[in-house]
Amino acid sequence: MASPLTLLLAEKIKQNGPLRFDHFMASALYHPLHGFYSSGQTRTGTQGDFLTPVSAGPVLGQLLARQADELHAALGRPHPFLLCEQGADRGLLAHDLLQAISLHHPNLLSAAQLHLLEPLPALTTQQRSHLAPFHKTTQIFWHKDITSLPLITSPIFFYSSELLDSFPVRLARYSGSSGWQERFVTTCPAGFDWIDLPAPDDLQSQIRHWQIPQIEGFTAEVRPSASSWIHTLAQQIHQGIILTLDYGMPAADLYHPTRPNGTLATLRRHTQTTNPLALPGEQDLTSHVNFSELTTVGERNGLTTLGLVDFANAWTRLAAPLFQNDQPLPQPWTRNFQHLTHPAFFGKSHHVLLQSKNLPSDFTPSIARPTTL
Ligand SMILES: C[S@@+](CC[C@H](N)C(=O)[O-])C[C@H]1O[C@@H](n2cnc3c(N)ncnc32)[C@H](O)[C@@H]1O
Repeated sequence: MASPLTLLLAEKIKQNGPLRFDHFMASALYHPLHGFYSSGQTRTGTQGDFLTPVSAGPVLGQLLARQADELHAALGRPHPFLLCEQGADRGLLAHDLLQAISLHHPNLLSAAQLHLLEPLPALTTQQRSHLAPFHKTTQIFWHKDITSLPLITSPIFFYSSELLDSFPVRLARYSGSSGWQERFVTTCPAGFDWIDLPAPDDLQSQIRHWQIPQIEGFTAEVRPSASSWIHTLAQQIHQGIILTLDYGMPAADLYHPTRPNGTLATLRRHTQTTNPLALPGEQDLTSHVNFSELTTVGERNGLTTLGLVDFANAWTRLAAPLFQNDQPLPQPWTRNFQHLTHPAFFGKSHHVLLQSKNLPSDFTPSIARPTTL
């Protein structure tokens, strides 16, 4: 029997005609009741549908705490100092970050406020419950998005993990006979099917801007909300750093002739599935981040790009002082660190994009600083 979301989307298509793919993806992931994320079911970790660097264990939060503390010190230990996460899901990374700050960074602890940007009620409830142990020591605030944060005059450490890859994408496809087309979703007896329509001017201009190759069947994703996201963030922040942790690549690699099928992927219960239109609300839809888009729009709006660093280098640089201690690191810690940095896990697939605003010119965060071990 068809799910409630399948019936709702089919009815919408019947009433209004084919649905642009990014609108289909937005409903599949974020429909208020039936969306993959909004339903509040566990999505990350072994009990969910896929693993993320956060679900690998607490080391990521510990290393981010070191980076936040280093920035706080470089700025002369201002009070308050804002930690801000968007896309925190159940709040696991924020938990690990606050835990590490409580245990190891007393100066930062006395100044830190945590701000979570979360539009979904079910996830807000889960975050409140996961972060309950810290309510006495740290002020924690929730906001729907960056614009609902009060004017940000305090320095900020803004971070996200696998947020951007879950922003909906439009799909462009090239055909020698019809030129650039945009992929829409229509109904068919078995559920949903693709229908390609001529690409409108706004999509054509993105295709030209990113020099997407005109190769028969070449399919590419374009993410409408990514530039407005970094634009708004750049405008809202007075001073601080933005760390975007995700899988993706610069545009020249993302839209390379060797990647003719794009990067749209569907995941359910730890298995890559083949049909993005099947089971809306019950499988994840994701695609790689175009890091060039974030850097160019960021720079146009006053951000400095400090680097795009793969996980293998980023976390090794931050952890370097720990390896010089006499005490051996506990085995679970080492295993978690290896999951983050090994090329077969997250080490090469995932990157940290570092962008900053109004930081002292002599300050380079450890993540962006090549290290000698
Ligand atoms: C792939 S999951 C990553 C979860 C977690 N950060 C991690 O790394 O394990 C993507 C998360 O981003 C959230 N998300 C997507 N768009 C968002 C937005 N505009 N504001 C806040 N969260 C958003 C989703 O609800 C989901 O929880």
